[in-house]
Amino acid sequence: MSTVELRELSHKDINSEFIDWHNNEHAKNYSASKRTFTKENLLDEYNNGIKNKNLYQYLVHHIKDRKNIGVIKIGPIDYLHKKSDLVVFIGDKNYLKQGLGSEAIKLGNLVAFNDLGIRKVHGPIIKSNIGAVKVYLKANWVIEAILKGHYLVDGEEQDAILVACYNPKYFSREICKTSKITLEDVY
Ligand SMILES: CC(C)(COP(=O)(O)OP(=O)(O)OC[C@H]1O[C@@H](n2cnc3c(N)ncnc32)[C@H](O)[C@@H]1OP(=O)(O)O)[C@@H](O)C(=O)NCCC(=O)NCCS
Repeated sequence: MSTVELRELSHKDINSEFIDWHNNEHAKNYSASKRTFTKENLLDEYNNGIKNKNLYQYLVHHIKDRKNIGVIKIGPIDYLHKKSDLVVFIGDKNYLKQGLGSEAIKLGNLVAFNDLGIRKVHGPIIKSNIGAVKVYLKANWVIEAILKGHYLVDGEEQDAILVACYNPKYFSREICKTSKITLEDVY
């Protein structure tokens, strides 16, 4: 049985707890652009996503504890090529390292593939965020490529690990499951 479920985010959910998650130490990897999170810009992001129909956000809801613990973002969606980023954030640090991040991504994959008709979800992860790379691999994603020196962090180059998951309606079983690059190749 599932521990978490996804619930569509509404503007009412962007409350003080939601904003506090973004100020936790572990959230610093959430955004490679090192953006700061405020109620205003989180609401803007939500409203623009709804208006442009290109970013859908879901609360990760802990069923037994009846508590929201994080968020899954699907977008920006590229409708021409039917592909999208999919980002996970377990905001409540009491729920980290319990397998819930990977469970939430698996649920996000289903929404992207079955409800939004996405062929491929993908995104770059800064190499130092090994926890995130592991969590996506555990949710049946693969490493597609390593982008050398993709980010500059405090003047230092950092690689990006490009991860992806393929919708089995569009891709063969072989492509869905195989990656030429393993975790051991990267670290
Ligand atoms: C990355 C994140 C989603 C992981 O969530 P989580 O629920 O703690 O991860 P899980 O419990 O599902 O862990 C899955 C695997 O990753 C490993 N892992 C998780 N966090 C880790 C960390 N910080 N360092 C090393 N490994 C880690 C776990 O040990 C587990 O591996 P195992 O199955 O071999 O034991 C969470 O730390 C987070 O929200 N971080 C900030 C946002 C972020 O970076 N999102 C990704 C942006 S691309």
